[in-house]
Amino acid sequence: MRREDILDLLFNTPWHELRLRAAHVLESAKGFHVHVRGLVEFSSNCRRNCLYCGLRADNRRLQRYTLSRERILEAAAAAAAAGADTIVLQSGEYAVKPEWLARVIADIRSRSDLPVTLSVGEQPAAAYALWKEAGAVRYLLKHETADAKLYAALHPGHDLRQRIACLHTLASLGYECGSGFMVGLPGQRPESLADDILLARRLRVAMCGVGPFIPQAHTPLGKSVGGSAALTLRVMAVLRIALPWANIPATTALATVDAASGQRDGLLAGANVLMPGFTPSDVREDYCIYDNKNRVDLAAARQAIEGAGRRHALDMPHMANAPAPEAAARP
Ligand code: 5AD
Ligand code: SF4
Repeated sequence: MRREDILDLLFNTPWHELRLRAAHVLESAKGFHVHVRGLVEFSSNCRRNCLYCGLRADNRRLQRYTLSRERILEAAAAAAAAGADTIVLQSGEYAVKPEWLARVIADIRSRSDLPVTLSVGEQPAAAYALWKEAGAVRYLLKHETADAKLYAALHPGHDLRQRIACLHTLASLGYECGSGFMVGLPGQRPESLADDILLARRLRVAMCGVGPFIPQAHTPLGKSVGGSAALTLRVMAVLRIALPWANIPATTALATVDAASGQRDGLLAGANVLMPGFTPSDVREDYCIYDNKNRVDLAAARQAIEGAGRRHALDMPHMANAPAPEAAARP
């Protein structure tokens, strides 16, 4: 796929046409099933200072927390009982000791057969290897933006090459990798959205999450304008066409800028994954990546899936890992 073709889809194709194409690709490549991941935000500690994020180390207004091992296990068990098909453990970067997290992963694995996905940032290869050994099988590390200059400006002390090198390390260790990026970042050129899609395609990521940038008051970008739901949905539809194999979530950020129907519209634009939160309610507000974060709970996920006319396995927890019927039927 050429950059010009992607740009044409992104900016010149009527929405109804783009959405139909994405729906067609989704149906033939992934079927009607929507995967439900159980998200547990287990620590708000972070060593980095991403300009857009409320968890940045310099944000002293944030109440930091790390859940105890027992509380993480409880949250993971609740997600499994509810019918989630993966547990996603997310935190800031270098939030906890690698050995501690390895034990948590092993404990989750010993209590359920759900795959464990990690989303804990850039880490040494030895930590990635340790967690793989403990039983983690998937890793989410969004590239955030494919514009190297913008990446460097938004991530003091880090660069895009280092990020991509981490994704390669993860893949070589056998992780199923996910990436993703934001739409509407201050300074983001429209063309760089095409590069984001091309980068995800080149990396052949198994999952790619796109969300609008949302300002967070206590960050350097707190007064910037955020990304729109409409452009995010267009990007998701093009992403579906360009990466038919990928799992594409309707993100919480999308559900935040469009509280009424963001999740459902994301599914209609080509997404096939939702990630309701199972973070305990007493700390949920403290995981404040951006302002007014919408809580996507299980009921909202179910409603979005049914509203989009799609299928889930939420009432059959034991079936969550079985292949979706339509996928199984394909040769
Ligand atoms: N707006 C939208 N998404 C954000 N993220 C972090 N800060 C923001 C924000 N202000 C996303 C990034 C990161 C994930 C944890 O949350 O894509 O990878
Ligand atoms: Fe930390 Fe991730 Fe937020 Fe950056 S985006 S400050 S790495 S939690």
